Amino acid sequence: MSESPRTPEAHTPEAPGPEASGPGRAKGEPRFPDGPAPDPAGSHFERRIRSFQPRRSRVTTGQADALQRLWPLWGLDIDGQRVLDLDELFDGRKRVVMEIGFGMGEATAQMAADDPDTGILAVDVHTPGQGNLLGLAERNGLTNVRVANGDAIILLREMLPAASLDGLRVYFPDPWPKKRHHKRRLIQPEFLSLAKVPLKPGALVHCATDWEPYAEQMLEVLTEHPDYENTQADGGYAPRPAFRPLTRFEGQGLDKGHVVHDLLFLRAQHAPQSPPVTAAD
Ligand SMILES: C[S@@+](CC[C@H](N)C(=O)[O-])C[C@H]1O[C@@H](n2cnc3c(N)ncnc32)[C@H](O)[C@@H]1O
Repeated sequence: MSESPRTPEAHTPEAPGPEASGPGRAKGEPRFPDGPAPDPAGSHFERRIRSFQPRRSRVTTGQADALQRLWPLWGLDIDGQRVLDLDELFDGRKRVVMEIGFGMGEATAQMAADDPDTGILAVDVHTPGQGNLLGLAERNGLTNVRVANGDAIILLREMLPAASLDGLRVYFPDPWPKKRHHKRRLIQPEFLSLAKVPLKPGALVHCATDWEPYAEQMLEVLTEHPDYENTQADGGYAPRPAFRPLTRFEGQGLDKGHVVHDLLFLRAQHAPQSPPVTAAD
């Protein structure tokens, strides 16, 4: 395992096209006039810790074509400036789950095909992956995937109504193995506290990782947080559910002999609080 976060790679040639540098855009990164914005939240939320690493992205011609044509239909920028209407976004679907960090999107597309009545709000900052997932959705006739570009933290905190999500999926998040980078790991108590607001009571929170110390951290913070309950009677990891396909990063981890852990927790359904008893009662 390298010391830097793992990022999905496209192994095909770069798309030709305009290249530019600018605020939030790596030098030489291609622009897509009708595609995702380079830094959609701009300076509004500048001082946050990021769980991802800005990087120059190689985009294939196929991915660039998908971004140009399909972004206006199925893409959205995480600008932190509006609250989404998920019913409208997903054409009236009643169940919506959010996936943070879909990478190249193969597993996301598979899950969308397997469950067409569920909307998948798929979030990543990775431009080639966004193009790849849009292309997969078109080729497979999927109408239940929307691709969100930007920081998932801002989407959860600023752009989703309370109790609007039926699930949250975080598969193989960047492990940030160096101690001084642990603060950049996504699954932390603060993250769980902000995610609990848009999650419906009873919503399934599904995490998976092949990085053992991160798995231990996930289990600890999810177990200790009062708003989440483990689905496993023994309080431990869960068997991999049949609905989660093997992901690209999972395959790389397995090739290195890593052990994969799944965690399945529910957003707690707290009983209504009874009013406090006072001396006057
Ligand atoms: C290690 S990759 C895993 C990709 C995929 N889930 C898989 O298993 O193949 C983690 C992905 O999470 C994305 N990511 C990390 N933090 C994010 C955030 N706060 N918002 C959106 N995407 C994020 C990264 O850009 C990267 O593509």
